Amino acid sequence: MTTPRGQPRPGTDNLLESLLKENRKFPPPADFKAKAIVKDRSLYDEAERDYQAFWAKQAEQNLHWFKKWDKVLDWQPPFAKWFVGGKTNVSYNCIDRHLASWRRTKAAIVWEGEPGDSVTLTYQDLAREVQKFANVLKSLGVKKGDRVTMYMGMVPELAISMLACARIGAIHSIVFGGFSADSVRDRVNDAQAKLVITQDGAWRRGNVVPLKVAVDDAVKDNKYVDKVVVLRRVGDKTPVKMQEGRDLWWHDLMAKASPVCPAEQMDAEDPLFILYTSGTTGKPKGILHTTGGYLLGVTMSTKWVFDIKDDDYYWCTADIGWVTGHSYIVYGPLSNGATSVMYEGGPDWPDRDRFWAIVEKYRINILYTSPTAIRTMMKWGTEFPARRDLSSLRLLGTVGEPINPEAWMWYHENIGKGRCPIVDTWWQTETGSILISPLPGVTATKPGTGTTGLPGIAAKIVDEKGKEVPPNTGGYLVLTRPWPSMLRTIWGDQQRYVDTYWNRFGKDIYVTGDGARRDEDGYFWITGRVDDVVKVSGHRLSNIEIESALVSHPSVAEAAAVGRSDAVKGEAVAVFVVLKQGQKATPELKQTLRQWVGEKIGSIARPDDVFFTADLPKTRSAKIMRRLLRDLAEGRVLGDTTTLTDPGIVENIKQQYIAEGKEEA
Ligand code: PRX
Repeated sequence: MTTPRGQPRPGTDNLLESLLKENRKFPPPADFKAKAIVKDRSLYDEAERDYQAFWAKQAEQNLHWFKKWDKVLDWQPPFAKWFVGGKTNVSYNCIDRHLASWRRTKAAIVWEGEPGDSVTLTYQDLAREVQKFANVLKSLGVKKGDRVTMYMGMVPELAISMLACARIGAIHSIVFGGFSADSVRDRVNDAQAKLVITQDGAWRRGNVVPLKVAVDDAVKDNKYVDKVVVLRRVGDKTPVKMQEGRDLWWHDLMAKASPVCPAEQMDAEDPLFILYTSGTTGKPKGILHTTGGYLLGVTMSTKWVFDIKDDDYYWCTADIGWVTGHSYIVYGPLSNGATSVMYEGGPDWPDRDRFWAIVEKYRINILYTSPTAIRTMMKWGTEFPARRDLSSLRLLGTVGEPINPEAWMWYHENIGKGRCPIVDTWWQTETGSILISPLPGVTATKPGTGTTGLPGIAAKIVDEKGKEVPPNTGGYLVLTRPWPSMLRTIWGDQQRYVDTYWNRFGKDIYVTGDGARRDEDGYFWITGRVDDVVKVSGHRLSNIEIESALVSHPSVAEAAAVGRSDAVKGEAVAVFVVLKQGQKATPELKQTLRQWVGEKIGSIARPDDVFFTADLPKTRSAKIMRRLLRDLAEGRVLGDTTTLTDPGIVENIKQQYIAEGKEEA
């Protein structure tokens, strides 16, 4: 099987082989179905009859509006406005509306700290903390429409900050705590943030990762940032220098803040947040989500896909620095009045059973994690989950990358004990909420597929020309109808929004960037990205961003980065580097370059393989032939090299590759 470009997609060949053989089917267990929120296909049918009326009904029944909208959808492809004229507030929906019922005293966020400390915030507690922090924001001059950047670890104050921004109409932009100071700088500058919220340091596997120092570096010469709010999390473990007039302690500000701050009445189309994600150029894209449509998307998908009920303990293991955490730790669960568990640390600290210890401790009912986490656990062995009582689990989910059927089966057998449905959820930062997924009480699942679009979602697979392909043929995954939680634009770059997503097959066809096929049941099987984006442990990275980081090193003349398959991480990064004249290709330099990329972007981008080469294979039009490099990095027999300027280059790289101990397949 090939991708639409006609080339084998690296990183997915083994996956594809196992996917093509996969025919096991798991209908929803009868006892699950009997109690499920969605039991039949009527929502799908209703949505197909009139998708706008369908979404309007969901918005009316499931969200609080200060004022109802005048128009459900204004669709001027590729620009959508949902619930035009409607007034609502995300923080009000996630907090205030639950205070009028018994849920006031229900646990909203149950937080487990890495060293073992824990905090439970009821909806009442959350209301108080969020209002206090909203008043802090106001006192620091943050107004509706201003941008606030958060660079934090997984602490409850991150969720409080998000909800406080939403409450007053400030736009948050969260930068994953594993990103470098340079990455923070780029994102703070692009958003022109007025305020940055950070913490002294974050716990990571018993060590402290300093965060405030990175912010100091990132905002050094910044014209827009007035203030930096610093949360004390690790105390004496890491020194923090507070800059007079700019830096303020969270606890000092909160001590004086009033707990009353009514939610601002926001327009449905007012921006809620920007979240930067990697695209196919060196510059990350600031994906913009707005208020009403986003909230509806996350509220409904949480309810339908996770079947979330009032007595559930629900745990999504993602980091809030990624979209999964935004939508399925904070906004989706809280809008539903659910209990959302949040964990600060890593899966192997203090031991490899930490996830299962948390499941046991809180009697988690619904667990949402990534294929990489599952494959890592698989590698560690069944003794770790076997140590703990997992009998509370009733539903399992995965997200972020394709799951290979072996990992799916391992999850099903060793974690779900054959009893829990698995929802393999496909979506993107851009889609805001889950779009393709089974409904656990309705859909028969198959290991390795997210099955079909949720009610109201229209997806198909097309060829190079945009024509729908027959079943079991590879092609591009596209979305053919607007959906409420879709991105509205790329912050500050409308043209890039149009060009990236809507220019290829027509301005009303959204191009996901994923390759996929559809089987005879109409199920979607995602085979991976078809653009220059790599997914390392489910984290989205741009090849070109990595290349730019490399060429900014004084020893490097040219570089090419590619993704190659990795049994645990899905994909790993391999780079091919041409050194400047006079530079020596040494093992130490390899290490230095790996570290350099880690410092420039973040440790998740650190290349696994570094190869030095005298030249890079290029086409006659001077384009780097990444396909050939991917073949090399995968140890595959090389494809067609006839368009190369100098086929000898490839032979040289290959020889070096083999000399360095990589066997050819
Ligand atoms: O390639 C798809 C993959 O992750 C990409 C989106 O990445 P990001 O914006 O970081 O969001 C990740 C969390 C939603 C997609 O284009 N992807 C996501 N979920 C799946 C997936 N690939 C296969 N199966 C999934 N369930």
